[in-house]
Amino acid sequence: MKIEGSVAVVTGGASGIGRALAEKLHEAGARAVVVSDLDGDGAEKVAAAIGDSALAVRTDVADEASVRRLVALTRERFGEVDLFVSNAGLTVTGGFEAPDDDWRRAIEVNLMAHVYAARAVLPAMLEAGRGHLLQTIAAAGVLTAFGAAPYTVAKQGAVAFAEYLAIRYGEQGIGVSCLLPQAVNTPMLTASVSNHKELAVLKSFSNVLEPEQVAAVALEGVEANRIHIYPHPEAADSFRRRAQDPDGWVAEMRALLAGRHA
Ligand SMILES: NC(=O)c1ccc[n+]([C@@H]2O[C@H](COP(=O)([O-])OP(=O)(O)OC[C@H]3O[C@@H](n4cnc5c(N)ncnc54)[C@H](O)[C@@H]3O)[C@@H](O)[C@H]2O)c1
Repeated sequence: MKIEGSVAVVTGGASGIGRALAEKLHEAGARAVVVSDLDGDGAEKVAAAIGDSALAVRTDVADEASVRRLVALTRERFGEVDLFVSNAGLTVTGGFEAPDDDWRRAIEVNLMAHVYAARAVLPAMLEAGRGHLLQTIAAAGVLTAFGAAPYTVAKQGAVAFAEYLAIRYGEQGIGVSCLLPQAVNTPMLTASVSNHKELAVLKSFSNVLEPEQVAAVALEGVEANRIHIYPHPEAADSFRRRAQDPDGWVAEMRALLAGRHA
């Protein structure tokens, strides 16, 4: 799709990748950018910096009524949504032993939010015969985040849902893209590493990108209507190895994990 002249909504737009996406969309000529976040004040700040073509809406993406309200307010002010960026997300760590509430929260925010967004915008997009959904997922959506089973499972579900939509509605003018970054320098990353040693280990197997770099690659991918967008090319390589040789790939991941705990 063409970003120039479009009406875009970004969830989780107060910080990190979402904030960079909102700013880049404006720079790329979007007619309107709606910045939404659970952090309403943060969203206001990002929208104010963009100017009159932006609107801030406090939204909880895990609450379908809140997502519907976000879309209704966007339509009222700017007209139909051309690009919905489902970017809000949160890390939920732990394994099988993680409490049910953690599993539910991971699935609500990292997976069901994409379903609520599709329900809110797809009918009008299908009627218009055009529209694009960009889902900020994570490389964990096609690989595995060590130490974060609820996050990995929810993100892999989000990729499955995006691919389902792309297959089902692609011929009807709907574009769908999964943004699949590894480490990005945002508050989420800083919160997930507890000390310099952990950050050094993380940097040893993943290049840490700035949110602006990720946003630039994301918008290029949307314009090219790409289903998988990899800001870190090494994640695409790992995904290929997983597909070609799952046993070899699991062995490689075990060795990496063992190194991390050495
Ligand atoms: N930072 C990384 O290394 C990294 C890597 C891969 C994927 N991601 C994904 O990128 C996305 C953005 O993360 P980020 O790194 O920019 O983190 P961030 O913490 O900087 O921003 C996330 C934003 O989402 C908002 N948010 C959280 N829950 C919400 C909810 N229920 N409703 C609305 N807003 C909510 C937060 O208030 C915050 O402003 C997430 O989906 C995350 O999983 C991040």
